[in-house]
Amino acid sequence: DAHISSDLVRVILTEDQINQRLAEIAAQIDEEYRDKDVLLVGVLTGAVMVMADLSRAMTIHCSMDWMAISSYGSGTQSSGVVRILKDLNTDISGRHVLVVEDIIDTGLTLSYLVSNLRSREPASVEIMTMFRKPEAAENAVDVKWVGFDLPNEFVVGYGLDYAGKYRNLTSVATLAPHVYS
Ligand code: PRP
Ligand code: MN
Ligand code: MG
Repeated sequence: DAHISSDLVRVILTEDQINQRLAEIAAQIDEEYRDKDVLLVGVLTGAVMVMADLSRAMTIHCSMDWMAISSYGSGTQSSGVVRILKDLNTDISGRHVLVVEDIIDTGLTLSYLVSNLRSREPASVEIMTMFRKPEAAENAVDVKWVGFDLPNEFVVGYGLDYAGKYRNLTSVATLAPHVYS
């Protein structure tokens, strides 16, 4: 079946729940940056959906830029050593930067990224992530806005992929076992 819905077992978060939470966070971000020129930095590829929806839920001006990164390391375990595949087009020195992510899993990607961005001497760096997994607590990443804390199970949708697919699912859901086999 070509339809995504036939691969899903259980919806964890609906499109409505996601949109409602985004509206709340966007209002807080509007307030935080009302007198500042904020640059939203999205991490490709997972953050594409949250960047598009968060920025349109905001009512203040913003700019956008993107980074593509890949973690080094053998096997499935992330090493925390990150390679920049595509750097920012923007000089962020003196700028107010808000990193926009889909998910913090181990936290290794963002802890590297934030220290890298800080070395460029921006006026501020904050993080907004739509989702967070329990393991993130083990790596101290100072996150200002979190959409939802997720249970420790594999989920897809709203930017989260399995083998590059399912990002375009508007909800967040668990995958049926037949997908893996
Ligand atoms: C995923 C996710 C985050 C990162 C979180 O990206 O989108 O960027 O992993 O993992 P961590 O907290 O354990 O470092 P991925 O590297 O799978 O690339 P993608 O965004 O293209 O899916
Ligand atoms: Mn990602
Ligand atoms: Mg991925």
